[in-house]
Amino acid sequence: MKSSSQAKILQSMSDTGAVVWLTGLSGAGKSTIAAEAIKTLRSRGYRTALLDGDDLRAGLNSDLDYSAAGRKENIRRISHVAALIAGSGIHAVVCAISPFAADRAFTRAVCIKKSIAFIEVFVDTPLEVCAGRDVKGLYKKAYSGEIADFTGVSSPYEIPDDSELTIRTARCSPRRAAEMIADYCEVVRSLPGMTIRAASAARAAGRKIMQIYSSGFEVAYKRDASPLTSADSAAEQIIRRRLEKNFPAYAILSEESADDKARLKKEGCFLVDPLDGTKEFIKRNGEFTVNIAFAYRNKSIMGVVYVPASDILYYAAEGCGAFRQQSPGSRYFAREDRIQVSGNREKLTLAVSRSHADGQLAALLENNRERIGETIAAGSSLKGCLVAEGKADAYYRTGCTMEWDTAAMHCIAQQAGGVCRQGDGSPLRYNRKDPFNRKGFFILNAIENRFIGKTAGDSSR
Ligand code: ADX
Repeated sequence: MKSSSQAKILQSMSDTGAVVWLTGLSGAGKSTIAAEAIKTLRSRGYRTALLDGDDLRAGLNSDLDYSAAGRKENIRRISHVAALIAGSGIHAVVCAISPFAADRAFTRAVCIKKSIAFIEVFVDTPLEVCAGRDVKGLYKKAYSGEIADFTGVSSPYEIPDDSELTIRTARCSPRRAAEMIADYCEVVRSLPGMTIRAASAARAAGRKIMQIYSSGFEVAYKRDASPLTSADSAAEQIIRRRLEKNFPAYAILSEESADDKARLKKEGCFLVDPLDGTKEFIKRNGEFTVNIAFAYRNKSIMGVVYVPASDILYYAAEGCGAFRQQSPGSRYFAREDRIQVSGNREKLTLAVSRSHADGQLAALLENNRERIGETIAAGSSLKGCLVAEGKADAYYRTGCTMEWDTAAMHCIAQQAGGVCRQGDGSPLRYNRKDPFNRKGFFILNAIENRFIGKTAGDSSR
């Protein structure tokens, strides 16, 4: 590895700020938490800037009203300003009601494109409490009809369902909220280093897997009838040893070890599938992978998918982007390795499984036949990576999977600009009590490409 240029890349990544975006009703406590967060961040050595909706509306955005279009433009401008500030090394703390999910998704996309971490903080205070406080006297005016389009009264607030942090102000002091925000920023700052360590563990596991692959192996069957080889457990040991040594504060949930529920008390948890696609391994088609992900506060924010047979490494982390590395000696996070989802909106290329097929999926695909162009078959988590790198546009899975099957490709697809959600459209979170993904999931280049029809766990469509 060219270490000096690697050091330069890492330095410039750690010199980049993040966007901390506080969303919530008027009077929810966003500004109070933001002020406290700024104090805490500064005391930990971060440079910060505050972008407050009220201030911005008094100046930069004074030409905008509170219609949906006015708010969209307000958020668009704030997003770009916040990303520019973060890009110059300052943590931008934003307070804006930002009531519409699509506008917040826009902000996230702006940040992802620029490799800036986006930390959405939902300041969750019930409407009755905000209206009861009515610090600015605006709720009274809104209820009497004196002002129109008031959020929560005469204009909707779409509750965020997949925020990085949710602060329930009834139970959480501004000080504690500020600590949670600052801790999140610290974790994000550690991600480039963590990604390199996870990638190196995955490569080491991959080398062992390839030794076993070429020297022959026995196949045993687990209680659920899934196959197991000596490669699974050898790879697991290598990865576990490294993660435990380097990240003792975090838990590990892995396919090949008993589930230690103590993980539920940890904010950070690794999700490991040491050999995903054991069936492909046994079939010797090369399409098996090593998957390592890291979930913080239940979101997958780092992911590594390594393909030992072809020595290809996909990886991503919040605030870093998504990458595909082919030559093992090259630098991590090299600009030329960045991957992005495709912009396709019709005749979608569908990634399909080699080993799993069921009637429900067949029915869903049949229902959406008009929208599907080609299909490409690939093993294990490679399908999610194909979407991430723009070679496929959609991947649907209706059956049950485990957290470690999806977490790494989830982060990779998301950082490449795509989406990964459960079959019913709800967010897919991690380090849950029940590690089964029971509702199926989809990975898409864009949410607009969601298929129509019933999928597993989906009773609404
Ligand atoms: S946003 O919806 O476009 O994100 P923003 O956070 O910038 O709103 O501004 C909200 C602030 O504007 C509120 O805290 C409140 O003081 C003031 N305001 C005035 N009219 C309205 C309204 N109709 N709806 C919401 N906030 C309003």
